[in-house]
Amino acid sequence: MAVASDSFRLLAGELIKKTERLRDMLAVVGLIVMGKVAVDTSIAFLSAVRIFLLSKLRSLSNFKEKYGPWAIVTGATDGIGKEYARELARLGVNIILMSRSIEKLTRVAQEIEAEFHVETQVVQVDFSGGRSIFDKISEAIRGKEIGLLVNNVGVMYEMPMELCELSQDVIWQHVNINMGSLTMMCWLVLPQMLERRRGAIVNLSSSSSVGPLPYMNIYSASKSFEFIDLCGLLLASAVS
Ligand SMILES: NC(=O)c1ccc[n+]([C@@H]2O[C@H](COP(=O)([O-])OP(=O)(O)OC[C@H]3O[C@@H](n4cnc5c(N)ncnc54)[C@H](OP(=O)(O)O)[C@@H]3O)[C@@H](O)[C@H]2O)c1
Ligand SMILES: *[C@@H]1O[C@H](CO)[C@@H](O)[C@H](O)[C@H]1NC(C)=O
Repeated sequence: MAVASDSFRLLAGELIKKTERLRDMLAVVGLIVMGKVAVDTSIAFLSAVRIFLLSKLRSLSNFKEKYGPWAIVTGATDGIGKEYARELARLGVNIILMSRSIEKLTRVAQEIEAEFHVETQVVQVDFSGGRSIFDKISEAIRGKEIGLLVNNVGVMYEMPMELCELSQDVIWQHVNINMGSLTMMCWLVLPQMLERRRGAIVNLSSSSSVGPLPYMNIYSASKSFEFIDLCGLLLASAVS
């Protein structure tokens, strides 16, 4: 009896020692994870302060001088693009609006001119048109000093769908509008910004770009094409 209870105690003692070691190891893992969470949260907090609070303190009065007299906004007649156009006009920047419907373009341009007393120009263009449309755009903006380019125009699925259920049109729209137009607009405008060493480009990405979105894979992939890091996304949302 005594022998059995002794060996049981020994076994229990060994087990407790083992679990203690395991516990210590888990504690170290826990500390590392907590450290990472603390660092990530602090960085996110500081960038939120920088973007949402400090940016408000910065004077925007010389915005036009800082970036340049004209801004291009693609998809400027509705939604986020229209608000970008309005907010930039509020800062005194002249606006080049680009989208498909000439009625909407004319109406929004008139609204902006009347409300903010800036110049506007409209360019009627369908960004799903592929390579051929950029000669027209290049011609339309010739001679204008572009300080800001807001790559806003974008398409999305009407509803979540599998790849083979999508029409060819929708697939090419994602390629041509979400990826092609953004890249070509940068290609057209960036040289003059680099030459003057001033200007800013905003790409409107989406939170769906951080990982593949099931049943919207082309959309999420096209949106991750649009930004190199999350700063781009934060910057875009901060300015809007
Ligand atoms: N809304 C959201 O919740 C959300 C979330 C994340 C990211 N985003 C991104 O933000 C951007 C703007 O989204 P939104 O919802 O504000 O768009 P929206 O309300 O649908 O506005 C689209 C604008 O683009 C123009 N447009 C549409 N197709 C065009 C084409 N093929 N060629 C030229 N212009 C075209 C439209 O005018 P016409 O019809 O006259 O051409 C309109 O001015 C997109 O890149 C989108 O992916 C939006
Ligand atoms: C915006 O898009 C252009 C063209 O694809 C790309 O070169 C640039 O890095 C993008 N900007 C950001 C902040 O991701």
